[in-house]
Amino acid sequence: MQRRSAARLGPLLLLLLLPVAWGAGPEPPRAAGELQVSSRLAGQAARVALHYLNYRLGSPSALRALGQVRKATVKTIPGIGHKYYLQFTTEDYKSSQNVGTCLATVLYLKRKPRPAVNINCTYTKDQKQTREDDYSFYKKLRQQTKPITGNDIPDSYGHIEPALEPAWALAVAGSSYLMWEKSTENLGYFMAQVKNVKQWITKDDSIDFDYLVILHEIPTQEMISCHLRVIWTPGHPLKVKYFCLSENQQSESEEGSGTESGSTNGIFNEEEANF
Ligand SMILES: *[C@@H]1O[C@H](CO)[C@@H](O)[C@H](O)[C@H]1NC(C)=O
Repeated sequence: MQRRSAARLGPLLLLLLLPVAWGAGPEPPRAAGELQVSSRLAGQAARVALHYLNYRLGSPSALRALGQVRKATVKTIPGIGHKYYLQFTTEDYKSSQNVGTCLATVLYLKRKPRPAVNINCTYTKDQKQTREDDYSFYKKLRQQTKPITGNDIPDSYGHIEPALEPAWALAVAGSSYLMWEKSTENLGYFMAQVKNVKQWITKDDSIDFDYLVILHEIPTQEMISCHLRVIWTPGHPLKVKYFCLSENQQSESEEGSGTESGSTNGIFNEEEANF
């Protein structure tokens, strides 16, 4: 299949969609020490950890966004890279309610492309409820006889059609994979908008979506269009394929299957085993 992308957002739309105002922040630290919790780099590292978590759990009802960074330190590991030690609160992606605190380490390696993440979080939401929510969400999508299609989610007023919410939530989970992969110590990503989505009705048990998503790169302000294929079955790792086209026309293609290095430990492993 030939795939092309051209879409870009105007500056007005960009302002409406930007969830957080980013400060200029200090220069990247080059020696061991405490970072300011307000620092752009601490927030960026915490978001990398959450991208990893949202992708790895593959649970549309458990998507988390960053609340506040409480603690952040960074250590330089000679010859290897910078390791961030973070403590932060998280919010439900949709309702913005507090859903627990996370401890994470994010290691930006000098050579390997994607950051290595280790994250443990507490839950305020009942885990059985989360699994049930995922399942009813899944059932709704399976019962779809006409494929879901849509454009501009959210629209320029920040509104999401209720019928498109499941497709949007899976776009958030799927794009988390590529945002985790693309992130570096100095470059962070937000998924600004789903430009278009198309569901493929499958014969097996999976839910299958094709997306064109717009990523907003921080602090360059570049808008990047990515084609994303997301295949989801509850209780299985999310399958993600993507292809991006940035303004300078560099392209990348990667594939994820939930088995990548980086790790969730402790409480998450237990929960995942029951998932
Ligand atoms: C998460 O928990 C595991 C097991 O309890 C521990 O080994 C690991 O260091 C923890 N990770 C973080 C970032 O605190």
